[in-house]
Amino acid sequence: MENKKENKNIDFYIEEIRTAAEEFHINETRPLSYFIRTFGCQQNDNDSEISAGLLEHLGLEAASQIEEADIVIFNTCSVRENADRRFYGHLGNLKTWRSEEKQRRIGVMGCMPGQGTHNKHLKDTFPYIDFLLNAGDMGNLPRALYESRDQSGKHFIVDLTDQPKEMTYPSLPVKRESRHRALISIMSGCNNFCTYCIVPYARGRESSRDPQVIIAEAQAAVDNGAKEIMLIGQNVNSYGNDKRRKGESGFPSFAQLLKEIAQIPDLSVLRYMTSHPKDLSDELIEVIGQYETIEPHVHLPLQSGSTRLLKKMNRRYTAEHYLGLVQKLRAARPEITISTDIIVGFPGETEEDFEATLGLMEAVKFDRAFTFIYSPRSGTPAAEWEQNASDVEIQERFERLLDLQNTHSLESNKTCLDKSIYVLVSGRSKTDEEVFSGRTKDDRLVNFSVPDVSQLENEYAYTARGEAVTTVISEGSEVLVKVTKSKTTSLEGVFERLL
Ligand code: SAH
Ligand code: SF4
Ligand code: F3S
Repeated sequence: MENKKENKNIDFYIEEIRTAAEEFHINETRPLSYFIRTFGCQQNDNDSEISAGLLEHLGLEAASQIEEADIVIFNTCSVRENADRRFYGHLGNLKTWRSEEKQRRIGVMGCMPGQGTHNKHLKDTFPYIDFLLNAGDMGNLPRALYESRDQSGKHFIVDLTDQPKEMTYPSLPVKRESRHRALISIMSGCNNFCTYCIVPYARGRESSRDPQVIIAEAQAAVDNGAKEIMLIGQNVNSYGNDKRRKGESGFPSFAQLLKEIAQIPDLSVLRYMTSHPKDLSDELIEVIGQYETIEPHVHLPLQSGSTRLLKKMNRRYTAEHYLGLVQKLRAARPEITISTDIIVGFPGETEEDFEATLGLMEAVKFDRAFTFIYSPRSGTPAAEWEQNASDVEIQERFERLLDLQNTHSLESNKTCLDKSIYVLVSGRSKTDEEVFSGRTKDDRLVNFSVPDVSQLENEYAYTARGEAVTTVISEGSEVLVKVTKSKTTSLEGVFERLL
């Protein structure tokens, strides 16, 4: 049902590149290599995984360092100013690198190139870029590579950001970053136009992917060993609205899709994000309460606890509505944890508005929160609005917010102390080889150590095949951990047994 034309286009360019393969091989001794640097959210992470899958499908190989690659792709984010700055720094560093070898290419995709001001700035300031693609437009990556082949010796920028932004693709090759977790995009774009946010301009309008394609991808991920699936979209709760509006009345709701995927045998944890409070339906809350596999966690961005400010943000819910949702969620799934996003210093935020946010935080007691200082984004309505609080005041509010949240996060993590909890292992700790990291079903970060095999009950010290458990724990292992310490952002514990 995804239209055949898009499909044919991708195949066409893949074929063209394949037949022009010699041009992509250096001296016939090695294939070209690529490196993708990703900024931003899970949506970009997933787009990068698909880009990597496509590039490998074309015969390219992953390089381990950016400077060692022939093709460097930046997958950009522009949600706040610091994301922009980091990326421009990286790009500036590659000027000499780009000029050193004829086959080298620099591509920029993600949320920046499709915005007029960024597009112009990129072209004017970094003329050595080779191609520009819209966010989520991986299907045009083969074409971008193909068209940016340097045949004339003259440099030019292939700019494919004039392509429609409402792009959803059928299944494309994917090279997943993680073995235990599969990110699966269920829709692209956003229709909400929160007045501070650049995403709808960068990613276009909502477009839902075919449920059968999504279910097949989820099944394939589990068949390949994924224990966890994360369904992603800017507002997953409005999944299918675009299709139903166009007359596809039978198109499933997000709740129906979630229910279907939750029933895939051997799937341990089903995650999803992001939920917009205005669209979190009773039907969805019921499904969250019914299926064990669905994570007992919801990420429900509040942004502000002041209804006055929520209105200016165009969030289209009130503080009371938000509180009502929290109550319903906790009634349906008592063990559920709730995380949120909060913005401090939105234009016009008064001390009273800010205190309303603190009040709502007290009322909800979020288990975790991502807190941001408002960053004006050119092209959004709020960027034109006056700021009445000073930077110092905003910083001070931010710290008060953080202090309160830290208290709540710690309180929440303390409820796990001395309990034996399920942990899905993501790998070894970066700082300590003897320590493993993972997440609980309710999305808490856990670092745990494994006691000496001699200290484990014999039945837990060795697997059925006689291997010491310490040697078999790896990414994707499911284990029971006894929590020994609760911290603000993580738990510490000791391994009990494999599950
Ligand atoms: N679609 C998601 C999140 C998108 S961006 C949602 O609606 O929740 C992730 C978070 O970045 C937002 O929830 C918001 O808290 C923050 N954010 C977005 N634009 C911002 C801006 N201009 N300044 C500061 N924070 C911003
Ligand atoms: Fe941005 Fe709002 Fe859309 Fe989230 S829902 S991506 S905050 S416009
Ligand atoms: Fe950033 Fe785009 Fe995601 S702006 S947060 S990468 S949708």
